[in-house]
Amino acid sequence: MSTLFKSTKGDNAPVECLGLSFPNDQARRDHFLKLLAEKLKDPEFRKQEGFPQGTDEAILAMSDPPYYTACPNPWLADFVKHYGKPYDPNEPYRREPLAIDVSVGKTDPIYKAHSYHTKVPHLAIVPSILHYTQPGDLVLDGFAGSGMTGVAAQWCGSAPASYRHEIEMAWKKEGRPAPKWGARRVILNDLSPAATFIAANYNLPFDVDAFARAGKQLLDELEAEIGWMYETLHSDGKTKGRIEYTVWSEVFTCPECAGEVNFLDEALDEDSKRVRDAFPCPHCGVELTKKKLERLYVSKLDRSTGKTLSTPKREPTLISYRIGKSRYEKKPDADDLSLLAKIETQPLPPEVPVVEFPYADMWEAPRMRDKGITHTHHLFLPRAAQAMGLLWRKANAHPDGRTRSMLLFMVEQALWTASVLNRYRPTGFSQVNQYLSGVYYVASQHAECSPWYILDGKLDRLAKTFRDYSASPVAVVNTGTAARLPLPHASVDYIFTDPPFGENFPYAELNFLVEAWHGALTQAKLDAIVDRSKENRAAQKSVDDYRWLMAACFTEYYRVLKPGRWMTVVFSNTQATVWNSLQTAMQEAGFVVANVSALDKQQGSFKAVTTTVAVKQDLVISAYKPNGGLEQRFAERGATQESAWDFVQTHLRQLPVAKIKAGQLEFIAERDPRILFDRMVAWFVRHSAAVPLSSPEFQEGLYQRFPERDGMVFLPEQVAEYDKKRAQMAQAPQMELFVSDERSAIDWLTDFLKRRPSTYQEIHPEFTTQLGAGWKKHEAKPELRALLEDNFLKYDGSGEVPSQIHAYLSSNFKELRGLEKSDPRLITKAKDRWYVPDPNKAQDLEKKREKALLKEFEQYQQHSGRKLKEFRLEVLRTGFKDAWSRKDYQTIIKVAQKIPYEALQEDEKLLLWYDQALTRTEAGA
Ligand SMILES: C[S@@+](CC[C@H](N)C(=O)[O-])C[C@H]1O[C@@H](n2cnc3c(N)ncnc32)[C@H](O)[C@@H]1O
Repeated sequence: MSTLFKSTKGDNAPVECLGLSFPNDQARRDHFLKLLAEKLKDPEFRKQEGFPQGTDEAILAMSDPPYYTACPNPWLADFVKHYGKPYDPNEPYRREPLAIDVSVGKTDPIYKAHSYHTKVPHLAIVPSILHYTQPGDLVLDGFAGSGMTGVAAQWCGSAPASYRHEIEMAWKKEGRPAPKWGARRVILNDLSPAATFIAANYNLPFDVDAFARAGKQLLDELEAEIGWMYETLHSDGKTKGRIEYTVWSEVFTCPECAGEVNFLDEALDEDSKRVRDAFPCPHCGVELTKKKLERLYVSKLDRSTGKTLSTPKREPTLISYRIGKSRYEKKPDADDLSLLAKIETQPLPPEVPVVEFPYADMWEAPRMRDKGITHTHHLFLPRAAQAMGLLWRKANAHPDGRTRSMLLFMVEQALWTASVLNRYRPTGFSQVNQYLSGVYYVASQHAECSPWYILDGKLDRLAKTFRDYSASPVAVVNTGTAARLPLPHASVDYIFTDPPFGENFPYAELNFLVEAWHGALTQAKLDAIVDRSKENRAAQKSVDDYRWLMAACFTEYYRVLKPGRWMTVVFSNTQATVWNSLQTAMQEAGFVVANVSALDKQQGSFKAVTTTVAVKQDLVISAYKPNGGLEQRFAERGATQESAWDFVQTHLRQLPVAKIKAGQLEFIAERDPRILFDRMVAWFVRHSAAVPLSSPEFQEGLYQRFPERDGMVFLPEQVAEYDKKRAQMAQAPQMELFVSDERSAIDWLTDFLKRRPSTYQEIHPEFTTQLGAGWKKHEAKPELRALLEDNFLKYDGSGEVPSQIHAYLSSNFKELRGLEKSDPRLITKAKDRWYVPDPNKAQDLEKKREKALLKEFEQYQQHSGRKLKEFRLEVLRTGFKDAWSRKDYQTIIKVAQKIPYEALQEDEKLLLWYDQALTRTEAGA
C-alpha cells in the first residue's frame, strides 16, 4: 500500500501525503493551500493555457490540494511519481479492443448523485478499466466532466460481491480470464472548474456522517432564519402551511381588448392539469391561443447594477403547500402577496453573483435577452435569491474543508431548480429539476421551489449513497485543457474518455451559472465545441477549429500514454462531420484505430462501424499507441514499403482473432484488406509521408505475406486459433457492406463477384437495390457498366474459362462438375460473366483507372465559378493523394474549396489529406 494518500475520516488521525506527515487532514489541507496560494501569485503559473478566470480566493475556496485544484494542479507529476510505474518496454502487455455499452447504469444512485451534461455511468466504464488495466495502474480522463471514470476506477476495488460475480460469470461465458479486482489510480482533468469540483467531490473521501449532520444543521438553520418566507395560511384561516412551491405565470395582453391575461389562470384546466391550446379571454371572451397573446413587460430598477430592466410581468398564480403530510393548493391571497412584496425589499445577498452573461459568445443570447436577463442574479426571483444566498453562505462557512466542499456540492445542485429556468409541469410528479437540460430556457410558467422541497430528499439520498460507496483515496483532479496536461511522457496505462461532441453542448456556457457562484469561470475559448454563435465572429468555432482543438488534446494523450497501451473514446454521434473530425484528429495524433462499434439497442449487441454516417448512435472507439519500436523503425527507414508491412504487422497483433456473437463467428471488419489499407494510409499521412503502395499493390503484398481466412487477414501465429474456432462453426462470417459511394459500390461488387461471377443482367437488379437512401448527397451515381469495365474483367468466351468462374460453376452446377476449363459446355455457361481480376491484372486496371481519375481531377481543378454540386469522391481522393505525394498542398486546398463544406468534412479520406495540407501551409498556421 502506497503512502501517498490515507483516508480522511474526519477524525483527528494523522495522515500522510506526498511523502509528508501531518497531524490530521485539515493540517494537510492548510499546508498545501498555503503553497497553492503562493503559486497563484506567480504570473507565470497563471499564464498556463486553460487557466480558469477567477480570483485567488475563489480558486483556493474550491480546491483541496494536492488532490484537487480548481486550476492546473502543480502536484500532478508528483502523483505520477508516487503511484505510477515507469514505462518498461519489456513488460508483456497485450489486449484486444473492447466495446462497451455506455447506457448501462443510468439508474444507479451514485450516477444520479450529481447531474452533469452527457454523463457516462461509472458502471459502463468499469468493464473497460478491468479489461485494460491491473490494480494500481494509472487511468486518465482528460475530459472527465463529473469524474465518472474516477468512480469506475474506485469501483474496481470496492464493487460488492454480487457485482463481481456477475462480471466474472459474463467474462467466463465469453471465454475470457477473470478480471483482477482492486482499485486503479486515476487522473481526472476538465477545462471547467464546475466539472472538476463535481469530479473531486465524487472521488475524494469524506466523512459521510459528518456531512449528513452538517447538511441537516444547514437546512434547520435556514428554516429558523427564513422559514417565514415560505409560510402561507391554510383555508381554515388559522393553520400555517409550508410552501413547497409557488407557480408564477407570465402575463400577456389580449390582442382584441388589450386586457391583461394571466396565462396559467386561463389556460390551465384545474382538474386534468392540462394546458389548453385555446381558451376565452376573461375580459372580452374572444378565443385566445398562446400564439395570439403578446407578452407584457414591466420596467424595474435593478439595484445591483443600477440599471433599469425590462422584464416579463410575472404573477404568483398557485401555491402548493403542506401541513404535516397532507398537500394542498391555493390561489395566493393578500397575505401571500404582501409577504412577497416584503421579501422584494430585502437587499440581494452578497453570495448571489452579479455577473453579466457573455451573450456575444453565447448560443442562447436572443431568448435570454427577451426575458430581461442580462446578469446571473436575474435568474432568481427575490425569495429564491434570499434562500440560495443564505444556503451558500452557510455551506461556505463550515469549518471543515472537506465537509464544506460536500455541502456546496449539494447546494449547487439546487441552483438550476431554484432559478426561473425551472418550468412548471402541472402533471409532473415533482417540480424539482424541471429545467430543460442543455439550454438556458425560461418558460412562461415557473415553479419556484422552496429550498427544503429541493434539498431534504437530496441530502438523505446523498448520505445513503456515499455511505454505501465510500470512496477510497485514489484520484487526483486537475483543471485545465486536455491539450496541456502537466504529466510526464509515457506515464499513463490507460485512457478512457468522453470528449465534447461538437455542436450539441456548449459546456462553458452551460457551466457559467454554477461557476459564477463559485467565482471561477471556464476559459471558454478552449472549450472544444463547434460554436456558431452569431454575434461575436471571433469567438465562433468551426468544425475545423473543433478538429484542431481535439487534435491538440489527442496529441497530448498520445504523449502521456505508454506505448502499446489503449485509449477508449466514447462518442455520441449525430453529425457525420463532427464524427469524422474526431477520427481524423485521433489519427493525426498518432493513434491507430482498432475498432469502432455502435450498440444495436434492439439486439443488445455491437456492430462494427466502418463508414462515416450521420445517425444518432453511441460509438465506442478503441485506439492504441503503437509499440514495439514501430515509430523508431519508421524514423530510421522512412516511408518505404517495408515500413508499410511493419505497420500492418503491428496492427494485426492488436486486433481480436475471433469473435463469437450469438453462437456465430463475427466478421472482424478491421481485418478486411480494404480497411487495413485505409489504416496504413492514415498512418503514412500522419507521418507526412507519401503512401508507398497503391491499393492493388497493397492487396497483393498482403496476401503474399499474411494468411487470409474468410476475407480477413491474420498473422501466421494467429491463424491456428482462428481455424480452430472456425472448425466449430457451420458458417463463415460475412462482412456487412453499406453502399454509400462509388468506392463502397466497387467493394460491394468485388464481394458479390467473388462469391458469384455473374453476367451484367444478373448483377444489375441486385446492384440497383444497393443504391438506396444511404447514398452520399454530392456523390455522382455511377453507371454499373462503367464500374464493371473500369474495375473488373469479363470473360468473352475465348480461351480457357478463368479459374474463378470455373470454381464457381463447377461447385454450383451439378452438370458442370469436373469439366475441363476448355470444355464448350463450361465456356457457354461462363461467357459474359464478370469476375474479380487477379492481383497482377488488378494493378493494370488500377493504373488505367487512376489515369482516368486524374484526368477528371484536372477538370475539377479548372472548374471556376460556383461550387461543384456533383462529383466523384474517387476522383477527389485520387487527386488529393497524387497532389500529396508531390507535396502540392495548394492544389488540395484549392480543390477542397470548390466542393461543399460538408462533403469535405464528411469524408474521412479527403478530410485527412485536406487537414494535413492545411497544417503544412500558411492557411493552417
Ligand atoms: C462529454 S463531457 C464529459 C462528461 C463526462 N463523461 C461525465 O460523465 O461527466 C465533455 C467535457 O469536456 C470538457 N472540455 C471541453 N473542452 C475541453 C478541453 N479543451 N480540455 C479539457 N476538457 C474540455 C467539457 O467541459 C465537458 O465537461
